[in-house]
Amino acid sequence: MTDEVRAQYEAYPYPARDPAEERKRLVIGSPSHILEIDHYLFGGRRDFSRPFRALFAGGGTGDGAIMLAQQLADLGAEAEVVHLEPSGAAQRIAAARAGIRGLRNIRFQAGSIEELDRLRLGAFDYIDCCGVLHHLEDPAAGLAALSGALAPEGGIGLMVYGALGRTGVYEAQRALRMLGVSEEAPADRIALARRLLKGLPRTNWLIRNPFVGDHLKGGDAGLYDLLLHARDRAYTVADLAGLAASAGLAIAGLIEPARYDPASYLTDPALLERARRLDPLARAGLAELIAGDLKVHIAYLVPHERSGASAAEIAPDLIPILREGNGPVLARALKPGEPLKVSFGQASFSFPLPRRAVPLLGQIDGRRSVAEVRAAAAEAGLVLSEAEFERDFAALYRVLNGINHLFLADRPLGPAPEAASAASANGI
Ligand SMILES: C[S@@+](CC[C@H](N)C(=O)[O-])C[C@H]1O[C@@H](n2cnc3c(N)ncnc32)[C@H](O)[C@@H]1O
Repeated sequence: MTDEVRAQYEAYPYPARDPAEERKRLVIGSPSHILEIDHYLFGGRRDFSRPFRALFAGGGTGDGAIMLAQQLADLGAEAEVVHLEPSGAAQRIAAARAGIRGLRNIRFQAGSIEELDRLRLGAFDYIDCCGVLHHLEDPAAGLAALSGALAPEGGIGLMVYGALGRTGVYEAQRALRMLGVSEEAPADRIALARRLLKGLPRTNWLIRNPFVGDHLKGGDAGLYDLLLHARDRAYTVADLAGLAASAGLAIAGLIEPARYDPASYLTDPALLERARRLDPLARAGLAELIAGDLKVHIAYLVPHERSGASAAEIAPDLIPILREGNGPVLARALKPGEPLKVSFGQASFSFPLPRRAVPLLGQIDGRRSVAEVRAAAAEAGLVLSEAEFERDFAALYRVLNGINHLFLADRPLGPAPEAASAASANGI
């Protein structure tokens, strides 16, 4: 990594976090939620009682590493989470967060992705690389290095910037460079960038872009990361697939799946039919063009040989598990016959639900398998043929998995039903 990128993350560890907050909440996100890892990379069938090693490459101030380490600790898994990070300032914050939580399954390793070979950290079942590759001089070489550190059955959770949602960012970065801002000391760069922001006309694409807000709400670190970064680039879905392919990898899942499905946006039947004829990657690319607001892409990647085979599919023995809340609580918040309304940032969606969504959801408790959900629903008086159950369950699953809320696993991985927090239908 270059000195300039290193200096930025020493001065502005990202994201800004106060370790004391660990006493009050766990930051949950994507990639690297244990339910997503199991679902998209291991078919929902990873036995976490077997040793599990995860690498957080460019782990920053620790959001992902702390989340997964906590989830693995809660399961009592024999796991090691390696936090690899070149910025000492960022790593100290991550270590303080782990200390407050009493997590003993994280190892902190100073260093960069380019040094992976030399560091001899061993093979990993899972590698998180969130918000890092797009800052590297050679992202393809970086991803190839990560791919080389994967255990045979392993996979990667990646986040890179999305090109369309960041419309205006690169123009503002260029304007600041033309003004010689990058030659100043970091604090002066921030002051000058704020002055430019104040004077931008309403016609400016950054001002017109409602999807990026780090320069407004992210403090100095957020503004620096967005507008003054020494190096960043953004990807379309096709660029991302090309990057993955260059490292022998393929996309196993995009988060949230519904945002990468043209059917979430289009209602015209003729257009929908044309969209359906596209291959899955082209469909995701079309959804990106239609949506316009995807400012990051979160993807799970597996070695090309396992592409199409690593994500979980509905099976009688798999347990449907909600990410937050439990089925009965969610079912109470839904009105029979009404669609599920969900927002992601500025984008609002309305997903039709199958007729029996509410009684089926009422049986999803994170402990019952798909077959047991059917049996419990029947016991509760819901008379359904096997075909009707399969159709309605699949339709419910598609909607809830599409919004990244329902996963499949062969053992309970989520919070116990009694501990789950209430989630409102529109607040999930
Ligand atoms: C935007 S932050 C993301 C942090 C963390 N992954 C997260 O999502 O919260 C980018 C991080 O990548 C680190 N980084 C930059 N270049 C790197 C490299 N070549 N190898 C490893 N980490 C790097 C930075 O120090 C910084 O902490």
